[in-house]
Amino acid sequence: MRSRDEEARAILRGNDRGGYSVPNGRVYPFQWNWDSAFVALGFATFDGNRAWQEIETLFAAQWADGFVPHIVFWQDDAGYFPGPDRWQAGEGVRTSGITQPPVAASIVRTLWDGDPGVRPRLAALFPKLLAWHRWFWRYRDFEGRGVVVAMHPWETGRDNSPEWDVPGAAIDTAGVAPYVRRDLGHLDAAMRPTGAEYDRYVALVDFGRSTGWDHARIAAENPFRVADVGMSMIFLRANRDLLALAQVLSDDAAADEIAGHIARAEQGIGWLWDDAARSWCSRDTITGRSSGFVTSASFLSFWAGAGDGPRDEAMLAHLDRIGMRVGYLMPSLDPDDPGFQMLRYWRGPVWAVVNYMIGRGLKEAGHVAAGERIRADTNGLIARSGFYEAFDPTGGAPTGGDTFSWTAAIWLAWARRSDP
Ligand code: GLC
Repeated sequence: MRSRDEEARAILRGNDRGGYSVPNGRVYPFQWNWDSAFVALGFATFDGNRAWQEIETLFAAQWADGFVPHIVFWQDDAGYFPGPDRWQAGEGVRTSGITQPPVAASIVRTLWDGDPGVRPRLAALFPKLLAWHRWFWRYRDFEGRGVVVAMHPWETGRDNSPEWDVPGAAIDTAGVAPYVRRDLGHLDAAMRPTGAEYDRYVALVDFGRSTGWDHARIAAENPFRVADVGMSMIFLRANRDLLALAQVLSDDAAADEIAGHIARAEQGIGWLWDDAARSWCSRDTITGRSSGFVTSASFLSFWAGAGDGPRDEAMLAHLDRIGMRVGYLMPSLDPDDPGFQMLRYWRGPVWAVVNYMIGRGLKEAGHVAAGERIRADTNGLIARSGFYEAFDPTGGAPTGGDTFSWTAAIWLAWARRSDP
């Protein structure tokens, strides 16, 4: 039997389409934005050149206004819906018209190890990362609150989290032209979003397309505009990492610009603290209502360095409580929530990439034992069940697609051994 290390490397090689990776060859046969960032971490453990290339290929699909799409359709594949014809987006190469959590700057900072030979690649990537962050400041924080406003549940990377249920109910799906889901041809419907959720996803794609992917109009008129706690935390952290890279490159003007936005986010992120839930929660910007849900994204406050003493204590109390309820942290939804479902995607299952950010964030914040539990649980899930898309937090059973790139990458880069 091959070791998990060998299996993980074989998965990354097998999902390599020549300069970019697919998350999974059947369910997700194109390049996905934040998947590629995490995949680069995995490649970095055995092929440094290929790691940088993964990010460079993603940024080759960047639009002139700085936007980086959530999917890049480098090659056609009928196995996925909605494909390039439904999106009608892209410059040069066909893409989707929404983005995904901006984790790339944080990953690039990890890839950068001070090697002078790599410095030209860092210098070439830096302005592209900065342009993407400027795009976020302009079109995903158009009220200047210091948070990230998602225009589509897919943009958050946590597609069917219950945080989107109430804001999503306002989306008019009556005009959605008929379509055929492809995901249900690959996977059990019990593991996937529902039909009603899919109608909303498609309605939002159709709305964006109807504007010609005019990001200013979308910011003003999109029927779904939710400040996502996950993206907001990831972006705050990414800006800290981008600032460090600006300093490496001695780009003082960029460093000042980024530092100003970090200061604003540190002030503004408090808007996402929910006193009743005693947790960080997503908030609908249209109604002003907090979701009230404790999700795995709530714990990204440690990764962002967003908390203070009392708020960190409150999150650690949630962690202890949830840790006693499940076999494996961190479930994507609080198991004490009545909507918790152990196999349904972002309503319960554990995702290795989120664990990576939570676990590292906890350790960096000095909560070493909690961070180590997250890593050890991730290790236990993959050792037990293999490289699946996600896992049941109660017993560790696999859910979603197999031979998953980012799960393999997180194993190689982090889960397989404790940090030195
Ligand atoms: C699903 C996930 C998303 C991921 C994509 C490809 O849509 O929710 O986070 O990027 O699959 O793996």
